[in-house]
Amino acid sequence: MIGRLNHVAIAVPDLDAAADLYRNALGAKVGDPQDEPDHGVTVIFIELPNTKIELLYPLGDDSPINGFLEKNPSGGIHHVCYEVEDIIAARDKLKASGARVLGNGEPKIGAHGKPVLFLHPKDFQGTLVELEQV
Ligand code: CO
Repeated sequence: MIGRLNHVAIAVPDLDAAADLYRNALGAKVGDPQDEPDHGVTVIFIELPNTKIELLYPLGDDSPINGFLEKNPSGGIHHVCYEVEDIIAARDKLKASGARVLGNGEPKIGAHGKPVLFLHPKDFQGTLVELEQV
């Protein structure tokens, strides 16, 4: 059911410093910051030949990644995103197998303008999983 690894998201305490590191030290193609008010984050996408890295920085006082950065002050891997062809079919299959969908269970529009859902990390070996319909 799952397809390609769409991206790995890394929460960072300093977005400019992280972008500079990927641009200069790693020589990666680094995009511009995008505010995602519906998700409480500012993101920068970094294009790699086989996937993307999503740098996440809190947007607003109730950002869902504030708590993560309090626990991980130097940043850390926040989630992985797998592609699916049909997000509703994927959600229903996962729910039937016992996985919990975060929020109200309905897809939101993600940073790429496509529907996304998040699955509870306790149901996936401690890893927050995002599904994106492609
Ligand atoms: Co993501």
